[in-house]
Amino acid sequence: GRGEFAHYMLKEMYEQPEIVLKEGSRHLDIPEELTHALHITLIGCGSAFYAAWGGKYYLEHLAHRKATLELASEFHYRNPIVQEGVTIAVSQSGETADTLKAIQYMEQKGQYTIGMVNVPYSSIARQVNYEILTNAGPEIGVASTKAFTAQLLCLLKISISLMKDSARKEKILNGLKQLPLDMQKIFFKVSQLQDIAQHLVHAKGIIFLGRGISYPVALEGALKMSELSYIFGQGFAAGELKHGPLALIDATTPVIVLAPMDQFFEKTVSNIYEVCAREGKVFIVTDEAGASQLAGVPVQDIFVYPSPATWELHPFLSALSLQLIAYYTALHKGCSIDQPRNLAKSVTVE
Ligand code: M6R
Repeated sequence: GRGEFAHYMLKEMYEQPEIVLKEGSRHLDIPEELTHALHITLIGCGSAFYAAWGGKYYLEHLAHRKATLELASEFHYRNPIVQEGVTIAVSQSGETADTLKAIQYMEQKGQYTIGMVNVPYSSIARQVNYEILTNAGPEIGVASTKAFTAQLLCLLKISISLMKDSARKEKILNGLKQLPLDMQKIFFKVSQLQDIAQHLVHAKGIIFLGRGISYPVALEGALKMSELSYIFGQGFAAGELKHGPLALIDATTPVIVLAPMDQFFEKTVSNIYEVCAREGKVFIVTDEAGASQLAGVPVQDIFVYPSPATWELHPFLSALSLQLIAYYTALHKGCSIDQPRNLAKSVTVE
């Protein structure tokens, strides 16, 4: 059951530090086919797709592998040209029909397939050549939270085990040890996230911005907001603002900006100014190092989480912050949190 928690989703969000603690240090076996793969295709739907997107950044930056991202619901209809390589299909339920179809397509084309699933013995687990369990435990809330985090962690661990730079590896692994505690600290500041949510309740739409790996996290935050609170949420790469979305900015559309202290920080800050100059109401989610550079920026609020050891760990902290903002926005609106309207936990039809 959900015990003392008002919703399964709340319980599942609170389980995340423990999952990172347990899974972060657990040895992960990977098949030889993956160790030698020069090209990895990542496939998924919804939140699993966004986790896979994060995995693409990890595989490119850490493991120096060519990583291609594919949306399962589009992929197999396209008659895509497939060359040698390994497919990693990411799915919490292991039952998503689109993802299963994409795996079957890849197998027909001769790819070695890996299923990264949370549910053992699921259809995807049985279909693939190799199964990697994300071990988040059963996820009941329709909105994926802890499964997303566990997927991202698994993809990070794969990338770490494929990487050559041992000093960098050490740094990330040490950072991972500190991460559960840093995630806990977000819960200590949950009242600030509740306040932010209170400001969002009456919005017609909310824009989420991020750069680099914060881009898929922004997309995930927008999906979470849409499915839970029924407020239209849209994520954009912050660098795309002036290519169109800037036209949306006015005093009525809140903008949530992920602005971690990473290589994109300065650029993201200039995007924040672009939005503020158009009377946009900005809410920043950043780490301590980022916040220290943001004094005087004319925004509505800044939510600050502890600075992680390396950029690879920001998504675990920023995604959790966005999950909580979506949760409290939905709560203020009185939405059906564990069972949002029109949605099912596993989507077994195409
Ligand atoms: O079970 P799966 O991971 O394959 O599910 C994929 C999506 O249907 C799922 O992530 C969906 O987008 C969630 N409702 C997101 O919260």
